[in-house]
Amino acid sequence: MVEEIISSDKRNSGGKNGSIKVNDDSYRLISEIESTNESRTQTHISELDRVLGGGIVPGSVILIGGDPGIGKSTLMLQLAEKIKDKKILYVSGEESASQIKLRADRLNYDLGNFYILSETNLEIIQAVIEKESPDIVIVDSIQTVSRPEIESAPGTVSQLRESTALLMFIAKKNNIAVFVVGHITKDGVIAGPKILEHMVDVVLQFEGERTHSYRILRGIKNRFGSTNEIGIFEMTDLGLKEVLNPSEVFLSQRNYGASGCVISSSLEGTRPILIEVQALVTSTSYGFPQRTSMGFDYKKLNIIIAVIEKKLGLFMNKSDIFINIAGGIKIDEPAIDLAVAMSIYSSYRDIPVDSETVILGELGLSGEVRTISYIDRRITEAAKLGFKKIIIPKGNLKNLNTEKYKAEIIGVEKIKDAVERLI
Ligand code: TYD
Ligand code: MG
Repeated sequence: MVEEIISSDKRNSGGKNGSIKVNDDSYRLISEIESTNESRTQTHISELDRVLGGGIVPGSVILIGGDPGIGKSTLMLQLAEKIKDKKILYVSGEESASQIKLRADRLNYDLGNFYILSETNLEIIQAVIEKESPDIVIVDSIQTVSRPEIESAPGTVSQLRESTALLMFIAKKNNIAVFVVGHITKDGVIAGPKILEHMVDVVLQFEGERTHSYRILRGIKNRFGSTNEIGIFEMTDLGLKEVLNPSEVFLSQRNYGASGCVISSSLEGTRPILIEVQALVTSTSYGFPQRTSMGFDYKKLNIIIAVIEKKLGLFMNKSDIFINIAGGIKIDEPAIDLAVAMSIYSSYRDIPVDSETVILGELGLSGEVRTISYIDRRITEAAKLGFKKIIIPKGNLKNLNTEKYKAEIIGVEKIKDAVERLI
């Protein structure tokens, strides 16, 4: 139980209808409002700029969430290094100033206009902001800062809400962009009950497997841009590196000619990314067959297995099935269904799929291959990387000029057709 402090807001304490006075200039026709020329600040980290929708909007509050240790502080430090012409205040409640300096030195950073404040009391932080008037403030993390007038401990719901509200106020009043770092809770929600996500302007999620070096920055909410974009980074000894050509990275350790490996394409935002789907089908050693899926929806996997059993006549009730999307990326898109099905088939029969083929398509319950979106972009990317044969849903062949690609395009209608075309 957390105690809630009710603040008395004078403005709303008017009486019944009619007794509240409204100024005539408090509302206007939208056409009469002057458009302000929002000048975004480029972060010079193109993956971050892309997710932000083209740069940082002054006066906006940007929440960066993610598991502890994923690289949020590193990303903020790199941002502070890249933006040279703006005054930046980095407020850290987690690390001391000398620890941050140590990290910056180790990464060989030249930090020009960069102030560090190691403080958790938001009143003091506010006073420093008003004194120094920086252009960008980074608060690392929202769970460690607190407002002394609120009695509950830092990190509790009322502290998070009130602290964020104060940061919002500071940002809007002084036209300062504020980055707020937040640790994600175990159930995957940023800072508890979604309250922060409602308040702030932009919510970005930094994710990845701790065991893999790739990190994905995903837009969840953005008042100034699309949330479809992702940025891909690699954590190296020298901090985060941008990954400008993700397809090449995810395919870099391919095992040519192995059964169960199929290449497909997933659209992340506006960018198609080629990925490798790996399946391993082995005979069950216990009574109950195992199904394990990494990077792909588990329920969807069970549906695909059922479709294969029914439509291809394979029976896998004595088989363990493991699915993995190589590189530690998570795919949440039906366009790779057919590739998953083909990788299972290939592993079950132990017949490799041609390594120069890309498979695209959603799988329906009756074994039909359903059309997918943005087919042209996916084919173009695959052809660019030298794939020779691309299997797509037949329905997508309409309105598609197959002549213009360097690869052979084959339309399939049923899962059975796909098998015949492949193996
Ligand atoms: P950090 O930014 O401190 O994570 P967060 O703020 O999200 O908790 O980064 C933590 C991890 O990143 C740490 O476990 C080590 C790794 N790391 C590198 O591998 N290389 C580097 O250059 C840096 C700075 C960190
Ligand atoms: Mg940190």
